Amino acid sequence: MSGKLSGKVAIVTGGAGGFGKGIAEKFTQEGAQVIIADFVEEAGQKTASELKCEFQRCNVTSRQDWESLVKFADEKFGKIDIVINNAGTTYRNKPTNDVTDEDFDKVFAVNVKAIYYSANVIVPYMQKKGNGGSFVTIASTAGIRPRPGLTWYNASKAAVINATKTMAVEYAKDNIRFNSVCPVVGLNTGLSDLFLGKPENEKIFMASVPLGRGSTPKDIANACAFLCSSEADFLTGIDLPVDGGRCV
Ligand SMILES: NC(=O)c1ccc[n+]([C@@H]2O[C@H](COP(=O)([O-])OP(=O)(O)OC[C@H]3O[C@@H](n4cnc5c(N)ncnc54)[C@H](O)[C@@H]3O)[C@@H](O)[C@H]2O)c1
Repeated sequence: MSGKLSGKVAIVTGGAGGFGKGIAEKFTQEGAQVIIADFVEEAGQKTASELKCEFQRCNVTSRQDWESLVKFADEKFGKIDIVINNAGTTYRNKPTNDVTDEDFDKVFAVNVKAIYYSANVIVPYMQKKGNGGSFVTIASTAGIRPRPGLTWYNASKAAVINATKTMAVEYAKDNIRFNSVCPVVGLNTGLSDLFLGKPENEKIFMASVPLGRGSTPKDIANACAFLCSSEADFLTGIDLPVDGGRCV
C-alpha cells in the first residue's frame, strides 16, 4: 500500500459489514485512522477490532448520534478529515404500487436525511478547524440509470447525488470536497438480494454489465481511497460510477 491516506482521520458509516467494511479495511491499510460508525454494536465492534480501528455506535438517522460521533472523533484524534456516508438501506425490489409509507420513510431517512445530518454537523466542525476535508457519498448506479421495482430507492440516491454536487460547489471555498461513488449491484453484501428481488434475476442482471460481474467491496474501497487522497485534490462534485460499464 502507498500510505496515500497517512495521517488522515476518517469516519465510515455502515462500516460493520458490506462495502463499508471493505472501505474501512482499505483506509486502514492506506494509513488512515478509521472510526466505524454503525448502529449494530456487536458486529461493528467485531469488525473494528479485526481491522484495528475505532467503533462508535451511531444511528445515522439521529442528529444526536452524529453530534456524539464528532465529539468522540475530536476527543480521540482532534480532527476529522474524511466522511464516507456509506450506510444505506432499501426495500425488496417490488412493484412501486406495493411500496408502503414505512418503506418510503426508512429509505429517505437512512439514504437522504443522514447525509443532511452529516453535513449539518460536520461541515461547521471542519470549517472551524480550517483544514478542508473530503466527503464521499456512496450513492448507486440506481441514482443515474434507474431500473424498475426500486423507484424510491433510486430517487433517494438521485437526491443525494444532487445534494453532493450542490455542497461541492457551496463548500469549495473551504476546500471541503464532496464526491459520490455509484456502485453497480454487488453480490455478497447485505443489500444485494433485496436489489435483485429474486435469485434468478442475478444472471440476467450480470449480463447487462459489460465487464460481466457485480461490484465488490474492494472496487468501492479503491474508488473512495482515490477520491479522498491528495491525488484527487482537484476533483469535487463528481459522481463516479464503479459499474463495469453498466451506465454507458
Ligand atoms: N450492495 C449493493 O449491491 C449496492 C449497490 C449500489 C449501492 N449500494 C450502496 O452501498 C451502501 C452499502 O451497501 P451494502 O450492500 O454494503 O449494505 P450492507 O447492508 O451490507 O451494509 C450496510 C451497513 O449499514 C448499516 N446501517 C444501516 N442502517 C443504518 C443506520 N440507520 N445507522 C447506522 N448504520 C446503518 C448496517 O448495519 C450495515 O452494517 C448503501 O448505501 C447502498 O445503498 C449497494
